[in-house]
Order: sequence, then structure tokens, then C-alpha cells
Amino acid sequence: MTHRIRMLPSGHTFECEATETVLEAALRSGVNLDHGCATGTCGECLARVVSGTVGEELFHDYVVGDARRQQGYALMCRSRPGSDLEIEAHEARGAGDIPEQQLMARVVRVDAPADDYRVLHLRTPRTRTLRFLAGQSVELKLGGLAPRRLPVASCPCNGMQLQFHLRRDAGDPFAERIFHDGAFADPVELRGPFGEFILDEEQRNPLVLVALDTGFAPMKSLIEHAIALELAQPVVLIWFAARPGGHYLANYCRSWADALDDFRYVPLVLDAGRGGPPVPPEQAQAVLERLESLPEPRVYLAGPAEPARELARALVDTGLPGDRLRVEAMS
Ligand code: FES
Repeated sequence: MTHRIRMLPSGHTFECEATETVLEAALRSGVNLDHGCATGTCGECLARVVSGTVGEELFHDYVVGDARRQQGYALMCRSRPGSDLEIEAHEARGAGDIPEQQLMARVVRVDAPADDYRVLHLRTPRTRTLRFLAGQSVELKLGGLAPRRLPVASCPCNGMQLQFHLRRDAGDPFAERIFHDGAFADPVELRGPFGEFILDEEQRNPLVLVALDTGFAPMKSLIEHAIALELAQPVVLIWFAARPGGHYLANYCRSWADALDDFRYVPLVLDAGRGGPPVPPEQAQAVLERLESLPEPRVYLAGPAEPARELARALVDTGLPGDRLRVEAMS
């Protein structure tokens, strides 16, 4: 059985199965309710039920208190709906709404989708989740190595299972360590989230996502979030790989193109075999050609810092209004 949940004051609505908690359904639907542990310990998901009845309440350690219960307060991570509900709760709408967190995680899997790329899967302890917005980054610290800041490649709907993308780089001890033995034995300290490379959900303009190499990571998170929100505008993903075969998760892109009505995937290679990579103006031209048919698209660009900044400058020089461009220059 499914119930309809309406959030106040935002007006966001989403469906919630009678067998899932309100928090699970909210995050799955792209609504970032305040929360911390998701297991009934911290109290951060406490919210007021304005109308309707809560059904099953799962076990929790956090004590709500009689006075608050009488006012309708309940823990959203432990409450399943017994009817349609209206709930007054705080939601994160911008980067400033989410506090910096520090927690330990462990490596549970390292995938090798291509020779020079690794997909790192981390898991937080059962009692902690990392709260973040799609497109944001996290600092990872492993053993005595210098901290490494990476965009989260997974969806904010699951803050316990986090994904990051790494490219082989002899000058990056963190990446070298993951390539060498996966670092399964060592805890990874996480700090964050950081950055404002997030979707402006109020805007309904077409989205053009331009990824340079591992700049695909934040795009994957943004696309998964846009799918959860059921955003209806056209989405074009342009992925410049560093070399042929460098679209290390092309299967994801093709599955989005198959599943979504208005999604276009444009894989391009930086080294086009003409004696060197195209200069930023040529990249900008390749991007702008894909924008021509779209009314006032908003462009999100992510990639290694210097190439991303150069391409951003070239796009603006070629006529893209700066206020329609958002850039994540990755360290
Ligand atoms: S998120 Fe911690 S108690 Fe609900």
C-alpha cells in the first residue's frame, strides 16, 4: 500500500510505501530531509506530523518525550505511514543547510571498469550516514597520506554507501594506494561535504552537463538526483574522455539514454588523434554546437581544475552567459 506524503513548508510531495520509513521514501524521491544516523539514535530527523497518522514505529534509542509526542513529533527515520501525511520538517535546499560532518568509513569494493580508472565503494558504520547534496565533494584521508578531495559519484539517497572515481596518476598517492591494493585494511576518514556544485531545482531550463575525464563523477550524482526528482527538462551529457576507451562508465550513460525520454549522451575524446588534444576553443565549439537547439540551457561543467577553468573561459568567450554556467574545478 502506498501513501502520499506532503512536506511543509516546501510543498514537496512523494509516495511512501507502508513498508518503508518516511525518511527512506523522501531520500529516494530526492527530498533531503534533515537526518543524521537513519537508525533512531541522533534525533536529527524529528519532525511534526501535521495531519494523518503514523503507522508502524520502528525501535529507536532516541527519546522523543511525551510533550513532543502530543504535539505530533516523530522520528522520520523510524516512522512508517499509516495514511497520507502532511509533515512539517526542515529540508536542505542549499549547501549551507548541511553541516560539515566527520566520520570513518571502510573500503568495501574497488571496481576496475577500465585499465586506468577505479570506482571506489565506501561504507559508513551502521549508525552513521554522510549527508550531502548531489554534486558535492568530500575529503578522504587514508593512513598517513595527505587528504584527497573527491566528488561523490553516488546519489544522496544513500549516505551509507558512497562511490568515488579515481584515475591512475603517479603523482597522486591516494589513487596509487587504491590502484595498488584497494586499501581494504585501513579505515578512511571522511570530512565534508564541500562545494556548491549542486542543481538549482527551481530552474526548469534544459540541463547540459559537461564532464572532463573523472568530472563524470559529480555528473553521475547529479543525474541520479535529477531522476529521483523526476525533473522533466531535457538533459544532455557531454563527456570528454582523456583518450579512446576513457568513457569508463559508458554503460550507465547508455542506460540513462534508453530509460529517459529526453536524455542525450554525447561521448567525445579529448585526444582526437590529430597530434594532440583539441584546444579549449575547439572543445567549447563542440559543446556550443549541442546547445544550439536548446532554449537558454544551464551548463554544468566539471573536471580537473585547469582544463575545466580553461574550457569555462572559452565557453564564456564564445558567447555563453556566465550566469548560466556552473563550474566544478576538481583538485
Ligand atoms: S536520523 Fe538519527 S534519529 Fe532519525
